[in-house]
Amino acid sequence: METRNLIAGRWTDISSSGSLEVVDPASDKVIARVPMCGASEALSALNSAYEFQPEWEATPPAQRAAVLHATAKLLVARKDALARIITQECGKPLAEAAGEVQYSAEYFLCAANEIQALNEMEVALDRPGVRGVVRHRAVGVCAAITPWNFPLAMLARKIAPALAAGCTQLAKPAEETPLSAFALAEILLECGLPPQCLQVLTGDAKSIATTWLMDGRVRKLSFTGSTETGRLLLRQCAQEIVRCSMELGGHAAFIILADADLQLAVQGALQAKFRNAGQTCICPNRFLVHENIASEFTARVAVAAAQLKIAPGMEADSKIGPLIHDAAVEKVRAHVADALARGGKLVCGGRTKEIPDRPDRFYEPTVIANCDPSMLCFEEETFGPVIPIMSVSSEREAIEVANSSPFGLAGYVFGGNDKTTLAVAQQLQCGVIGVNEAVPSNARAPFGGVKWSGFGREGGVWGLMEYVTTQYLAVRSLDK
Ligand code: SIN
Repeated sequence: METRNLIAGRWTDISSSGSLEVVDPASDKVIARVPMCGASEALSALNSAYEFQPEWEATPPAQRAAVLHATAKLLVARKDALARIITQECGKPLAEAAGEVQYSAEYFLCAANEIQALNEMEVALDRPGVRGVVRHRAVGVCAAITPWNFPLAMLARKIAPALAAGCTQLAKPAEETPLSAFALAEILLECGLPPQCLQVLTGDAKSIATTWLMDGRVRKLSFTGSTETGRLLLRQCAQEIVRCSMELGGHAAFIILADADLQLAVQGALQAKFRNAGQTCICPNRFLVHENIASEFTARVAVAAAQLKIAPGMEADSKIGPLIHDAAVEKVRAHVADALARGGKLVCGGRTKEIPDRPDRFYEPTVIANCDPSMLCFEEETFGPVIPIMSVSSEREAIEVANSSPFGLAGYVFGGNDKTTLAVAQQLQCGVIGVNEAVPSNARAPFGGVKWSGFGREGGVWGLMEYVTTQYLAVRSLDK
């Protein structure tokens, strides 16, 4: 398992200020030490990426795509080993981690296909003798700053389109989960990526980001993380007018209409809510259920939630792994305590499960009824396995409550009639919506939010377009 940084084409463990520990959240054991880089390493990485940028951009798209195709293949071939790395550093159950590897591979496949389909276009000008030509150029050196909850996939969906478009890439993975990033970099190199194309650094996020963003040579930042950090980065990007994609906090509503298929809604709620123990940006946080079916839904979802196996992700059949760290557990505790203090009714869960010799980080799937918008869990994302349920009397009320949040990443609507369900879905102020579908994410489709959840899209042709600039040439040809 690689634990060094990839800087200027070489694996290196030299850093200005020591090392960082990578800890398995399910055991508290230190599984690796990685370099603690700062401004000087960030600058070396940037120099190298900048130097190689013209060469990579000039590499024919089919050749770039071949590297990405090979990477997708190798990711799938090494799925089990990669899944173990993901589970070890971020805690999610192995089956989910394997799904994340597959999802990552699909971003590489998709970017490889999209770049080969991106052609020059002609614009019909109303000017005799002049041709309008529109082409796409690589944005330039790109930076990616990624979170711990999908340590492989969040990087894949930034790196794949950047490399496809002809951009060199600087990557700073989350300090909790750098090992998946190193594993991905190793695979890319094995598949023929020229080493200077990708630089992977761990360390002091603030100095690394500041060095990159204030330099003037980085032309694009793609960030996935909190809205608070996104704002800080946006301020820095303003200085050099760095183009940005921001995938920030979510706070999804899960609306269940009166005529919904309850079985489907219960299954969907479990699937959407308990992915990665609720630590997914598109996890539903506010369940808005029609009053006619609210008690039946509550009872059924609680019975099903209480049966989910809580265990370290490495154990067979684990469905709920540990939360990432103690601060995450404290946040869930605070949200649950606040909801109960404000009149919420605990239906199941509401505490951590004791597992011998394991840290107190396994939070039970929790269902709380009688919730309302005054509660903390309705104000901000809990990032834990909690289903807070509010009953609503109409579709209008559900839409109003859903849209009252400043966040707008994802939403879900479950209903028995396509026309009404879609009509409700289309009124939600968010970028990704599941309609009787609990897992809307797909590497071929656009992923991203509105309002405080950010802007820019990842996936499909939309993800690729974030890494190209459109160049227009008005050409008067003098050739005979
Ligand atoms: C995220 O948590 O932002 C990623 C979720 C997904 O891609 O499904």
